[in-house]
Amino acid sequence: MFDSEYLDIPPLASAGGAVRLPGSKSISNRVLLLAALSHGQTTVHDLLASDDTAVMLAALKQLGCTVAKSGRNGESAVIGGLGGQLVQRKATLFMGNAGTAMRPLTAALALLGGEFELSGVPRMHERPIADLVDALRQLGCSIEYLGNEGFPPLRLLPGQLKLDQPIHVRGDVSSQFLTALLMALPLVARRAIRVEVIGELISRPYIEITLNLLKRFGIQIERDGWQRFTIPAGSQYRSPGEIHIEGDASSASYFIALGAIAGSTDGQNGIEIMGVGADSIQGDIRFIEAARMMGAKIDSTPNSLHISRGIWPLKAIELDCNHIPDAAMTLAVMALYADGTTMLRNIGSWRVKETDRIAAMACELQKLGATVEEGADYLKITPPRQASAWKCAAIHTYDDHRIAMCFSLAAFNPAELPVRILDPKCVAKTFPDYFEALFSVTKAKTADIPVICIDGPTASGKGTLAALTAHRLGYHYLDSGALYRLSAFAASRAGVALDDEDGVARIARELPVRFAGCSIFLGEEDVSKAIRTEAAGMAASRISAHSQVRTALMDLQRSFRELPGLVADGRDMGTVVFPDASLKIYLTASALHRAERRHKQLISKEKPTTIAAIQLDLEARDARDMSRQAAPLKPADNARLLDNSYLSIEKSLDQVIEWWQGTRPF
Ligand code: DC
Repeated sequence: MFDSEYLDIPPLASAGGAVRLPGSKSISNRVLLLAALSHGQTTVHDLLASDDTAVMLAALKQLGCTVAKSGRNGESAVIGGLGGQLVQRKATLFMGNAGTAMRPLTAALALLGGEFELSGVPRMHERPIADLVDALRQLGCSIEYLGNEGFPPLRLLPGQLKLDQPIHVRGDVSSQFLTALLMALPLVARRAIRVEVIGELISRPYIEITLNLLKRFGIQIERDGWQRFTIPAGSQYRSPGEIHIEGDASSASYFIALGAIAGSTDGQNGIEIMGVGADSIQGDIRFIEAARMMGAKIDSTPNSLHISRGIWPLKAIELDCNHIPDAAMTLAVMALYADGTTMLRNIGSWRVKETDRIAAMACELQKLGATVEEGADYLKITPPRQASAWKCAAIHTYDDHRIAMCFSLAAFNPAELPVRILDPKCVAKTFPDYFEALFSVTKAKTADIPVICIDGPTASGKGTLAALTAHRLGYHYLDSGALYRLSAFAASRAGVALDDEDGVARIARELPVRFAGCSIFLGEEDVSKAIRTEAAGMAASRISAHSQVRTALMDLQRSFRELPGLVADGRDMGTVVFPDASLKIYLTASALHRAERRHKQLISKEKPTTIAAIQLDLEARDARDMSRQAAPLKPADNARLLDNSYLSIEKSLDQVIEWWQGTRPF
């Protein structure tokens, strides 16, 4: 999960492989609420773990539901339902920016009665809710606006319910208001309750999901067209016991588009999406029809999809997107690769989503070089005329997960420009591991994957600085010294003398190394501590002088150069292993400063020793590393020198990031 301020996606060249999608957000949050309102326990399998579901779970717990984990890896949630009775009748609930939590909880709590305050992030307080509040007030619910009229935050107070008249609700701003009512009204259906929709109902597929899931929980809503819905008298929620959440069809759209845009990686035939397929109950599954119109080749099974490039360049289309409001954003980015102007119509609901998505998409598409016309409820997109008309852009994401995800696809641009995604962690709303999933099925030319090298003598703080830099940029991290330490350790274990060059090189060539977070494994053994001793460092320095050992470790080190980028520390990262690195830093500090730092680390771990003794050791090791024949320690020709004797780690990191930024085209 990236928590960097920006993520630079290198120009991507091809795609291929399989992805498993996280659970659908719309289904997850509906199921959680229905399970909470039901009698008995519901085990929810493949629940989406994301910001929006976390908000819902936290609120349900506050209201007295029990939530437990089950399954081998805690992947299933067991919800102890309230049986239509609130345990907690007073609460202040924070809804984040989760419309799928805010709207239905407002309806359910208003009908169940109690004193509740529901608020969210600032954007939530700009998302309209008046149509739902008006409908609930017709029912006798008591609801006050605590901020601006028509918008959250809200205060709910007990009211006198009147259920004898049909309830009217507008359906042309968001279908979530109708969904909220349909999920809440069974709680009070002592008599049949009729809901009538005013205006054209938008996003009908989401209402179909609602009706479908209500049925799973024992509620059969009668429907007369899309204007009139009746909740039968005596409706009662019943837990289905167990329920599976299917993969998110809106999230599938990015990988469907990927398969349509990217040429296949050698030896791989397109993209396989697992967890959602032709049997999906989600409306956004119909994105496949739109993607096919644009040229994608798609095969499906009940719960998987296979996509490859069909027609190229893609075909420009004109489409009413009312049935796929969320996935249609992905079409806007596919339009960048089309042979003409694409027109997406009937997308007015975009204006009241996580951000004003019409304005946001128009602005960001233009930054990339597209010509965009924006209307009240449409977008008209003409791609850059030729490769040279594409522009390098930092994409603003407006705290909107879908903008971050769909613009990642711009990295296939024919101009081979990288794309910067600002605030990439906003994808956590529905798909926390989106970028990891994307990079697991995409390839870039090796030369396009950036590398930052931090070389320098022992105890200069390279490791800490490199790891922090990697974290800040969302890049991989290679601690090359660990590989020399491991080789020396494994050689000693195998009874191979450290000066036996052939023997140590053989061991280095077949090193069964595995990095798992901060731990390093040799085979099945966690050797993280064992290779960090001073003796292990000295042994590493000895074997590192053998040129055969250095050659043996070369491919392994280079294999760390993976999307989206790498920060590598060592002695010869910039001079030998990654000579084409975009930024090379030679980090040093005075021998005394380094000895003092090492002394501080050592007194907590090994037997205490004097600073002077450590300094002598360091100097001996530096001398050997610098004077050896093979890849001696020295600054690369074009390295930046950083002496951190008097610099804090934060200041050193800022300096590295500033230099890095200077190499970037954004
Ligand atoms: O960075 P470190 O202290 O973990 O490295 C241990 C030894 O490995 C170091 O003294 C020299 C050697 N080494 C090397 O020769 N080349 C590298 N790229 C990294 C480490």
